[in-house]
Amino acid sequence: MNAPILEFVDVEAAYGPFRALFGISLRIEPGQALAMLGPNGAGKTTVARVASGLVAASSGQVFVNGIDMSDRPTHEFAQAGVAHAPEGRSVFATFTVQENLELSFHRVLGRSGVAAGLDRAYELFPLLGQRARQLAGTLSGGEQRMLSLARVLVEQPKLLIADELSLGLAPIIVDEVYATLAGIRASGTALLIVEQHVHHALHLCDDVALLAHGEISWTGPSEGAADLVVNHLFDSEGTT
Ligand SMILES: Nc1ncnc2c1ncn2[C@@H]1O[C@H](COP(=O)(O)OP(=O)(O)O)[C@@H](O)[C@H]1O
Ligand SMILES: [Mg+2]
Repeated sequence: MNAPILEFVDVEAAYGPFRALFGISLRIEPGQALAMLGPNGAGKTTVARVASGLVAASSGQVFVNGIDMSDRPTHEFAQAGVAHAPEGRSVFATFTVQENLELSFHRVLGRSGVAAGLDRAYELFPLLGQRARQLAGTLSGGEQRMLSLARVLVEQPKLLIADELSLGLAPIIVDEVYATLAGIRASGTALLIVEQHVHHALHLCDDVALLAHGEISWTGPSEGAADLVVNHLFDSEGTT
């Protein structure tokens, strides 16, 4: 049997003296998709950072493909097939769209892979092709997120971690991003999806983990979980 692509065992994480995660255990099997949902400040981004090696667990263990990566540097997570599309704007603002893509593809695919990488990126996101010569800093927030997604998808990762990809996107673009994610999933890439759009995330993912105050408060299959998830999120945000 294959090892899970990602497994957390009792993971804690902290920023200096501030503890952000408490006893997080989760697993994602190869090709499976997990939605990580929860209110602002719950620790979702920190889970994403620990899963891609950007933040080290202060205790517990992180396994990628069955290998204990707990003390390994970020680039070894990348080499093991973990790609992370971070939240917010993560592009080089003063480079064009195409230069941003070329930089990533050169690093990951080597010089000979750049042209094929560009073809695949523009096929996935035709809009980026139309804007190839535009400075990335002048793209809309949604377009910048597409650019960061294109940069990591072309690596054909074993696990894609996507943090709030749809934040601030027009609904029609969100649909497009999710259609792309479904395609990526169908090609065998496992997903860890951090999302505010509960219904999109549940539709895409097999399982869901609800995070509150740095702990997993509920986890289970996505199917039929929509009401429970929505109630939980409203409860933990104190709104109705
Ligand atoms: N770089 C950081 N330095 C200090 N505290 C941080 C940092 N990033 C996040 N935090 C804190 O950790 C907690 C969890 O944050 P985060 O993982 O970003 O939550 P979410 O993504 O669910 O909104 C929050 O209280 C946040 O203020
Ligand atoms: Mg976040």
